[in-house]
Amino acid sequence: MKGEVGAREWAMRQVYIALGVLLTTAAIEGIDATPMEGFDPKQFDAILGLEERGLTSSVAVALGFRSSEDTHAEEAKVRYSEEKVFAILS
Ligand SMILES: Cc1cc2nc3c(=O)[nH]c(=O)nc-3n(C[C@H](O)[C@H](O)[C@H](O)COP(=O)(O)O)c2cc1C
Repeated sequence: MKGEVGAREWAMRQVYIALGVLLTTAAIEGIDATPMEGFDPKQFDAILGLEERGLTSSVAVALGFRSSEDTHAEEAKVRYSEEKVFAILS
């Protein structure tokens, strides 16, 4: 990848390193986090006024504390097994 497009795509991916640190730190501190994609970046940028600042959105994270009335919060987590998630190369 070269040029402006390459740099932009690289930057978009780099965000996920920071995202991983943010989510891990939030979990350690007991702060709930909801990472989100699937939104319309153009709309998001317009609403937040990012365009005029030369910025664009790639991922969003809501941080806060769950409601005590949130019945879903106590439901069992759905996770793949370690064997499915990790490949041990040796
Ligand atoms: C509006 C919205 C968009 C989301 N988009 C994504 C997504 O693109 N990718 C993803 O892995 N999770 C997405 N999530 C899921 C959550 O961030 C979170 O991972 C999920 O609720 C499971 O949380 P858990 O850690 O309690 O199992 C989205 C959630 C919401 C509410």
